[in-house]
Amino acid sequence: RRHRIAVIAGDGIGKEVVPEGLRVLEAVSRRYGFGLEYDHFDFASCEYYLRHGAMMPADWKQQIGSHDAIFFGAVGWPETVPDHISLWGSLIQFRREFDQYVNLRPVKLMPGVPSPLAGRKPGDIDFYVVRENTEGEYSSIGGRMFPGTDREIVMQETVMTRVGIDRVLKYAFELAQRREKKHLTSATKSNGISITMPYWDERVEAMAPQYADVRWDKYHIDILTAHFVQHPDWFDVVVASNLFGDILSDLGPACTGTIGIAPAANINPERVFPSLFEPVHGSAPDIAGKWIANPVGQIWSAALMLDHLGEREAAAAIVSAIERVLAEPALRTRDLGGPAGTIACGQAIADAVE
Ligand code: NAI
Ligand code: MG
Repeated sequence: RRHRIAVIAGDGIGKEVVPEGLRVLEAVSRRYGFGLEYDHFDFASCEYYLRHGAMMPADWKQQIGSHDAIFFGAVGWPETVPDHISLWGSLIQFRREFDQYVNLRPVKLMPGVPSPLAGRKPGDIDFYVVRENTEGEYSSIGGRMFPGTDREIVMQETVMTRVGIDRVLKYAFELAQRREKKHLTSATKSNGISITMPYWDERVEAMAPQYADVRWDKYHIDILTAHFVQHPDWFDVVVASNLFGDILSDLGPACTGTIGIAPAANINPERVFPSLFEPVHGSAPDIAGKWIANPVGQIWSAALMLDHLGEREAAAAIVSAIERVLAEPALRTRDLGGPAGTIACGQAIADAVE
């Protein structure tokens, strides 16, 4: 087995944590006997923008569109390029053009990471948030009338399609089916949002019988956020529309600790296009160049990538190596109160894999 990976480190600490992700990928591919081939790209970075006046070359889709996956660091350097330019010129293009309609984030309490939720220990919290990533509340249909006057009106429509809802639900049901608890929770608000959200609920109900072994339930988004904090152990796979998923996919990882360890995947499940795997954090200009960034978010996103590529054992081996290293105070980076630098932590995880 061989997988071709497009590697984009981007800006700031992206350039420090991506090499650690690659180090661990090398170790795990040796141990599990599959091949990884990397092509490195310097676009989708602010340095590229300063040299070329654009975040990416015109033919970027040809350059990375036939890879099996994109391994991404972080983009953004607000001192030289405004964030809306760097983000819209790169990541948002990938998500849209490559139809990455699933945004997946694990929420898992790791050893050595203090949870803001009192009394929780590793093992208590272990679930996924599946966010619809292309439609819903984030449409550009709408407008503003009579600007600046007392009659000012603004509106923005929510757009949900049967195809768009069903495909993300299918992904979530199948993910739940692969897991031990086989439990799916749907985020809704059909009491207040009386047209689109009842439709979302209807589609969940229509699909559920095809996954008879999956137990499912639904909560309104307001009480669901409370349950994330008070009963995170209730959840296994949580599926949500674009807006609700955006909120839940920040809240979930926040309940389990630091931004430095959280990973994310933007997935095109049919593999018509490459999917993108990245840490949740950005380029962290405040610590860039000091080699103290936590590489775990990047390394964990490598595990999500391998899982997507069908290397499930290797993916699980990375997560377990991360757990063993984080349990060791001397191997933790500064954001977790430890003394280790970026490379020492990454090397320890690579060693733990082998
Ligand atoms: P950020 O995530 O870069 O940093 C927020 C805080 O968390 C900083 O204090 C930083 O030092 C700390 N932090 C982040 N990652 C860390 C790690 N691995 N280890 C230890 N500490 C870590 O978010 P911020 O400051 O809002 O944005 C900085 C730049 O990154 C902006 O240009 C922004 O647009 C971009 N950004 C890019 C993202 C992406 O590429 N997906 C996501 C979020 C922000
Ligand atoms: Mg967000």
